Amino acid sequence: MAGSRKLRLGTVIHGVGGGTAQWRHPQALSDASVNIDFYKEQARKAEEGKLDFLFIADGLYINEKSIPHFLNRFEPITILSALGSVTSHLGLVGTVSTSYSEPFTIARQFASLDQISRGRAGWNVVTSPLEGSALNYGKTVEQHPTHEERYRIAEEFIQVAKGLWDSWEDDAFVRDKEKGVFFEPAKLHTLNHTGTYFSVKGPLNVARSKQGHPVVFQAGSSENGKDLAGKSADAVYTAPETLDDAQNFYRDVKQRAVANGRAPEEVLIFPGITVIVGETEEDAERIYNEVAALVSIDSALDYLGRFFEHHDFSQYPLDEPFPDLGELGQNSFQSTTNLIKRTAQEENLTLRQVALRSVTPRSPFIGSAEKVADLIQEWFAGEGADGFVIRPGAPGALHQFVDLVVPLLQSRGLFRTEYEHDTLRGNLGLPVPVNRYSLESSGTLQLQGEG
Ligand SMILES: Cc1cc2nc3c(=O)[nH]c(=O)nc-3n(C[C@H](O)[C@H](O)[C@H](O)COP(=O)(O)O)c2cc1C
Repeated sequence: MAGSRKLRLGTVIHGVGGGTAQWRHPQALSDASVNIDFYKEQARKAEEGKLDFLFIADGLYINEKSIPHFLNRFEPITILSALGSVTSHLGLVGTVSTSYSEPFTIARQFASLDQISRGRAGWNVVTSPLEGSALNYGKTVEQHPTHEERYRIAEEFIQVAKGLWDSWEDDAFVRDKEKGVFFEPAKLHTLNHTGTYFSVKGPLNVARSKQGHPVVFQAGSSENGKDLAGKSADAVYTAPETLDDAQNFYRDVKQRAVANGRAPEEVLIFPGITVIVGETEEDAERIYNEVAALVSIDSALDYLGRFFEHHDFSQYPLDEPFPDLGELGQNSFQSTTNLIKRTAQEENLTLRQVALRSVTPRSPFIGSAEKVADLIQEWFAGEGADGFVIRPGAPGALHQFVDLVVPLLQSRGLFRTEYEHDTLRGNLGLPVPVNRYSLESSGTLQLQGEG
């Protein structure tokens, strides 16, 4: 391996695609979002490429303008449980909101997934940017918590979940048939949490897996999001557009981790990159254009509107400068809408350009396998990333990435040729959190990591 850092890779499975029109592509499986065979096949391909994890995004509100994948897709923990049984080393990361769920339920579900997969679960903490989510959980849109409050809830939620995961010390279950002792009572701990948002007694009715706690990801790049990451996350899923942005974000989150008494390598930064790999540059360009040509401007305006609290962009002229939206977006996808506004202004873009760009991003990671591998190497070596989440930009893009790019990264000594561990933490090089109660009694720190 080059240096002491190891490149990590994951991929997001987006069914019929992350945009509005990929499902129309001749090679797309038009029911992929609810096709278990498609998910299994993608998971097996990711494992063939020795990827660290697959990632399932999620949301809690749709309307008729949502993109096709969002309209009809699997609930993350359910699909990940199924995929756990057809894979053996691949990490399984699922998105669950802290704004519309209860910590006891979520801690229990992820602990179960962690046991089912023998230590490969990861939880992507999101705060639910979509105001309409409130309507599905017995609240009004006005009761949707503010951006800031959502992050305060998230912080307490994660602390409760981590506390519940430590309910049982690792050697609590003695299962001594002869003596009739199933567990040692002194190794069972009740959390008794009473906080601002949650009151949870515990203990949790499922023990820790061999990776201790599921890996906690966080997706949210605002100041509040970065604070949460520095304090409580093992990994961050982010979406910078340039190496410069990626480096600033990387430095910033690592500094926040250090300010919280953590080592910088305890929080890993994963930019999501939209990848299309061609046999040549021209081939990749052709594939990109094929997908881009399927997008209608109306669907692009709907796609853009979702980030801005479902704003109706069809009221503005398409070929005039991007409209001034004031504060709109601050309470939903804050970091994303700030970036869209800033780019539109800096590059003097029209509304049409902004909408089309956001739905079919002109990612730098579109090109030949050599070009994609070179960029991954540059961003990794330049400390813009500890790893990447590969977002397939066209049908078949994950296959091309695994078949053409992974071997190049391996031959350069950047990426593994075999899994080092069978847990997600082990492969990511993250320490196994010692049970807080065992720590109290022994004061020792066990590490499982680089292998
Ligand atoms: C790369 C990235 C991926 C995200 N994925 C999801 C997701 O799958 N589901 C969701 O509800 N929110 C998702 N979010 C939204 C955030 O969790 C958060 O609720 C929203 O962006 C506002 O936070 P921010 O301003 O800190 O980015 C994502 C955000 C980013 C930047």
